[in-house]
Order: sequence, then structure tokens, then C-alpha cells
Amino acid sequence: MLYLKETNLEDAEKEWLFVKDMPEDEFGLMNKWPGISFEDFKATALPVLMDHAKGLNLREGLVPETFFFLWDDDRIVGQFRLRHHLNETLRTGAGHIGYFVRKDLRGKHYGTEGLKLLLEIARNIVPEDEFYLRVCKINPASLHVMLNNGGRIVAENEDRFFVRINNPGKAI
Ligand SMILES: CC(C)(COP(=O)(O)OP(=O)(O)OC[C@H]1O[C@@H](n2cnc3c(N)ncnc32)[C@H](O)[C@@H]1OP(=O)(O)O)[C@@H](O)C(=O)NCCC(=O)NCCS
Repeated sequence: MLYLKETNLEDAEKEWLFVKDMPEDEFGLMNKWPGISFEDFKATALPVLMDHAKGLNLREGLVPETFFFLWDDDRIVGQFRLRHHLNETLRTGAGHIGYFVRKDLRGKHYGTEGLKLLLEIARNIVPEDEFYLRVCKINPASLHVMLNNGGRIVAENEDRFFVRINNPGKAI
């Protein structure tokens, strides 16, 4: 069964194994902790992730953000991130959502299904009428994930498409 679960202490070891193997930057999806040790993950990364989900200890310019892991039964296959609302930087930049699927498991629709699950959660959190996403033009897999979930390209610049998906929930 496929499900999203917020970052949490109980799953720390599996979360760590996943995060330490993520690249630092793939098509703008950033990971601050490539190669991190388990001790450092527990001491630094986990508290930051769990605080930010609650809107705690955010530095200037950041909004609350929840990191979910996509689980297929007892195995983590992806990471999906939700920024709870926009600010000016996000509105014209990265938007609400980021995601990553483990390299050796791509092309099995985890990306598409994971975003679908994230949107179901996001509709109860995000106050804006639409979800904002952004994708590199040289990343067709990610664009397909968005289009598969009702995404519409609304703008582009030299190297990126800007995509919107209707938010049927519009949490206040
Ligand atoms: C983007 C990413 C999450 C997609 O994950 P995934 O599990 O492989 O996605 P899916 O299996 O759902 O495939 C999505 C679609 O992309 C298509 N696709 C995959 N590679 C493609 C390629 N090179 N060219 C065109 N389409 C491609 C698939 O056919 C599928 O389309 P379909 O459903 O219409 O057949 C994954 O590639 C990834 O983690 N990339 C690195 C991080 C990243 O780019 N994040 C997004 C930043 S905007």
C-alpha cells in the first residue's frame, strides 16, 4: 500500500537511509543532508524538519513546510514536501510543492501517485485557490507528474515552466 507519512522520530533510521542517499541538488530539488551520519541526522536534520512542519524556528523568509515520505508498505520510495502557503518569493519561484523519487524506482508512477496523495493533504492546509509548482524544461518526467495531476502550464521563462493545479479545498 502506498501512503505519505510526515517525518517522525519513530522512522528515523529509514528516513536517514533515504535522505543521506539523496543528491544535494537534482533539477533544483535540494537536499541539505547528503551523506549525513545517523547521529547528525537525529541531532540536526530531524529537529529542523519537525520544527518547520509546525512553523517553529523558521528563519526570515521561510514559511511552514512539511516533509512527507512516500512509503510503499514498509519501504520509503520518495519524499514529498509541502510549503503551507505562499510568500512573494514562492509565488514567483518554487511554489508550494517539491518531490523526489528514489532513482532506481522511477518510472513506476510513484511520482504521479505521490503527488496525488500530497494534493489530498494539501487541500486542507493551503489557503490559496491554486497550488503553484515550477519545473525545469529539461525535466519532462516531473512535468508529466504535474500534468497527470491536473497541472496547467501558465507561464514560462527561458528554462522553466510555471504550473498551477486547482485547489478544491482552499483551507483558511
Ligand atoms: C520527477 C520524479 C519525481 C518522477 O518520478 P517517477 O516516479 O519516475 O514519476 P512517474 O513514474 O509517475 O512518471 C511520470 C511521467 O514521466 C514520464 N517520463 C519519465 N521520464 C521521462 C522522460 N525522460 N521523458 C518524457 N517523459 C518521461 C513517464 O512516462 C510518466 O508519464 P506518463 O504517466 O504519462 O506515462 C523523479 O524523476 C525525480 O525524483 N526526479 C528528481 C527530482 C525532481 O526532478 N523533482 C521535481 C523537481 S520540479
